[in-house]
Amino acid sequence: MNKILIIYAHEHHDGSTINKAMVDAVRGMDGITFIDLYRLYPDFKIDSDAECARIFDHDVIIFQFPMHWFSTPALIKEYQDKVILSKHAYAPEGKAFIGKYFLCATSTGSGADKFGPGNRNNYTVDEFLRPVEQTMRASGMTVLPHYVIYGAKFAISEGRLEPHIKGWVTLLEKLRDGKIYIE
Ligand SMILES: Cc1cc2nc3c(=O)[nH]c(=O)nc-3n(C[C@H](O)[C@H](O)[C@H](O)COP(=O)(O)O)c2cc1C
Repeated sequence: MNKILIIYAHEHHDGSTINKAMVDAVRGMDGITFIDLYRLYPDFKIDSDAECARIFDHDVIIFQFPMHWFSTPALIKEYQDKVILSKHAYAPEGKAFIGKYFLCATSTGSGADKFGPGNRNNYTVDEFLRPVEQTMRASGMTVLPHYVIYGAKFAISEGRLEPHIKGWVTLLEKLRDGKIYIE
């Protein structure tokens, strides 16, 4: 069984629809540890030692966040800047992230049709997430396909929220049970 760590960053969790529903759905699930970065570190002073200890203790690491300006919220960037550079994580001595799996679970305001070449946002979500993935690859992780919900604002009215939440729980169960597929 894989141990999964969800590292969540939403600056306004109470006003969230999509991410809040995802968080509620995994509460109490076996084999999943959940941390809320904005709650733990409202002052942005990330405890790298504590975070590396958490990484050592898990097999699959997930960043969950709403997309902010085609990237992550600032605290995820701060997490990468501080934790990956710490003595427990930075190669060659640091080994915290080596051999772990990584993916992002993100929601976007724009619909899927707004992403990709020729569309308003020009690039795909995978392309926007490349700096995040590459940083995790450079620290020794294997990157898995990301889990994306597009057009978050309209997900409920279009009936997409429930299947999305089911898909999220199913994905976590598969990752936890060792069914990891690398494309
Ligand atoms: C500061 C900020 C920047 C945002 N940037 C983007 C963006 O670049 N692309 C996009 O599709 N949505 C963007 N959004 C919309 C959010 O991603 C969207 O509201 C969120 O995913 C909805 O999830 P929630 O219900 O959990 O809050 C942005 C929202 C905020 C507050």
